[in-house]
Amino acid sequence: MSFDRSIKIAPSILSADFANFGAEIRAIEAQGCDWVHVDVMDGHFVPNLTFGPPAVKAFRPHVTTVMDVHLMIAPVDPYIDAYAEAGADILTAHVEAGPHTHRTLQAIRAAGMKAGVALNPGTPAEAVEHLLDLTDLVCVMTVNPGFGGQKFLDMTAKIRALRAMIGDRPIHIEIDGGVDPVTAPFVTAAGADVLVAGSAVFRGGSVDNPAAYGENIRTIRDSAQSIGKVA
Ligand code: DX5
Ligand code: ZN
Repeated sequence: MSFDRSIKIAPSILSADFANFGAEIRAIEAQGCDWVHVDVMDGHFVPNLTFGPPAVKAFRPHVTTVMDVHLMIAPVDPYIDAYAEAGADILTAHVEAGPHTHRTLQAIRAAGMKAGVALNPGTPAEAVEHLLDLTDLVCVMTVNPGFGGQKFLDMTAKIRALRAMIGDRPIHIEIDGGVDPVTAPFVTAAGADVLVAGSAVFRGGSVDNPAAYGENIRTIRDSAQSIGKVA
C-alpha cells in the first residue's frame, strides 16, 4: 500500500446485504470505490454485533483494493493475529478500547498490517498525540460507533487539530459516520482524506442495480473535492 492524500471513498459493508457480501464487495469495487471498510462489532464495546475473523477472511478474496478493518471491540490484542490471518490490510483499534493502545499499535504493525487508531466523538485529538509514530491512520468518528445511518456530528475542529499535529507524517485521516454529499466537503476541507460511507453509498442500489452505488460514490467524491467552494 503506497501513501497519498488523495480523497478515498471507503464504503462500509455494514450497509450491504448481509446475505450477499461477496457480490456486494465486487459491486462497490466495480463502481469505483477506493477501499472497502469492514465494521467489526462485539456487542460489548458497542451495543451491536456484526462478524468476526472467519467472516472477514471470507471477504478477503473479493477485495482487490484495500481491506480496511475497523474493530469496535474490547479487548483488541487477543484478536490481532486472527485479523492478520484473515487478510486485513489496515487494522484500526479504538483508543478507548483499553489502557495500552501503544502496545496494540505495535502489535498490529508487528503482525504485518497498517495500524489505525479511532477516536470516539467525546475523545480529544490529544489522545493520539503520543501514538502518532506508531500510527498509519487516525479514524475520527463523526457518530457514536455501533450503527449505520446516524446523524453526522461536527468534528471539524478535531480534524483540523489532528491535521496540524500530523504534519508531514504519512498518516491518513479517516472520517467515519454520517458522511454524505452534504457533510463530505466540510471534513475534507478540515484535512481528511479517507471518507467512510455506509448508507450514503448503498442507498437506492443493490447487486442487481449497482449503477446506483457508482452514482452515490461519484456524488460523494465530487462534493468532497469541491472544498475550495466551502473552505
Ligand atoms: C459506525 C460504523 C460506520 C458506519 C457508517 O459504527 O463504524 O462505519 O457503518 O455508516 P453511515 O455512513 O451510514 O453513518
Ligand atoms: Zn467504521
